[in-house]
Amino acid sequence: MSVTEGIDKTRIPKHIAVIMDGNGRWAKQKGQDRIYGHQAGAESVRQITEACGELGVEYLTLYAFSMENWDRPKYEIEALMALLVETIENETDDLIKNNVRILAIGDLKKLPEDVEQKLSNCMQRTAVCTGLKLVLALSYSSRWEITEAVRKIATQVKEGSLELEDITEETVSNNLATNSIPDPDLLIRTSGELRISNFLMWQLSYAELYFTDMYWPDFGKEELRKAIIDYQRRERRFGKTSEQVREETEE
Ligand code: FPP
Repeated sequence: MSVTEGIDKTRIPKHIAVIMDGNGRWAKQKGQDRIYGHQAGAESVRQITEACGELGVEYLTLYAFSMENWDRPKYEIEALMALLVETIENETDDLIKNNVRILAIGDLKKLPEDVEQKLSNCMQRTAVCTGLKLVLALSYSSRWEITEAVRKIATQVKEGSLELEDITEETVSNNLATNSIPDPDLLIRTSGELRISNFLMWQLSYAELYFTDMYWPDFGKEELRKAIIDYQRRERRFGKTSEQVREETEE
């Protein structure tokens, strides 16, 4: 079935964020090492990126490595970093061909040097692409990001370039790592866990949440199609009444 089947093309979420969970359990179920699950997860990344491009989604943000993931066993961190380097190396040409631009959010200084270099090279090479923006959240956590934003804002106030009274929600948004990226419309989390796990907590304020029991390596184009259909059935009220929302869409 085509990924666009049954989808209203005029109401595609502009920004989809994904917590890709369950790689380890997927592998365990198959009697395999966790790394095998991450490798299969990288294939799902490929599928979902392709599908988002086909659908005309503008931003896809993937929680690829959280700040808390630094506490995992050393061998698993190394394998994940190696997988990142390998994927970036193998996929950059295809990303350019498909007009996909790579962006990254997170404390990238913490990444091993080769990962940081490959990533910045990929970001530079894809900077000309005008299609889907694939945002990799790496060494990322919301609390880290908000703390950094507070530090930046406080510095501007201290230096006199910003008045305390002029701090608005926009000031906060502009000082986050996602500055210039619109807030997600839809958050997808796989593997049956019902948590946000320190991901885009400011930006998800009005996102629609979609949870599925499916493990990430099993989440393909058909699963994405179902998630978008579910999203399109919902009414986004942003705190207003149904009547107000209907009047606005009729205008
Ligand atoms: C969560 O599953 C997944 C991760 C911590 C890593 C996600 C990484 C990938 C999908 C691979 C490569 C990514 C890119 C962008 C190429 P888990 O290990 O927490 O699973 P579990 O909860 O079942 O243990």
